[in-house]
Amino acid sequence: MAPAPDDDLHPLCHSRDLVDGGKGVSFDVNYAGQTCRAFAIRHQGRAHAYLNRCTHVAMELDWQPDHFFDDSASWLLCATHGAVYDPGSGECRGGPCRGGLFKIELVEHDGVVHWRSQYHLKPVEF
Ligand code: FES
Repeated sequence: MAPAPDDDLHPLCHSRDLVDGGKGVSFDVNYAGQTCRAFAIRHQGRAHAYLNRCTHVAMELDWQPDHFFDDSASWLLCATHGAVYDPGSGECRGGPCRGGLFKIELVEHDGVVHWRSQYHLKPVEF
């Protein structure tokens, strides 16, 4: 299979900006024609990113900016009503969520994390 073209990849942050179980890095995407917040975190060594949109009510997960993990640094927690998501897959693991978070593919190389655009998920045009 031919590799995906590099113009699908968009620089997001330095690898060192994502500490395992620590604060996330927020960024904006155009999802289905609307500007949405998204975030990246690191969990068990791997970087993951999701739309910052709870599947209970379409609210952002973090009350305190860029705090997505619970106190145990094991789960992603929605601060509004306590929905719990798996950091590695975005799947709902407890609380009122209906389905999992929308996952955004990341590619990490040479110390830089990139996110990959796809159908319905594009960079925000300025
Ligand atoms: S908005 Fe996230 S749990 Fe209700």
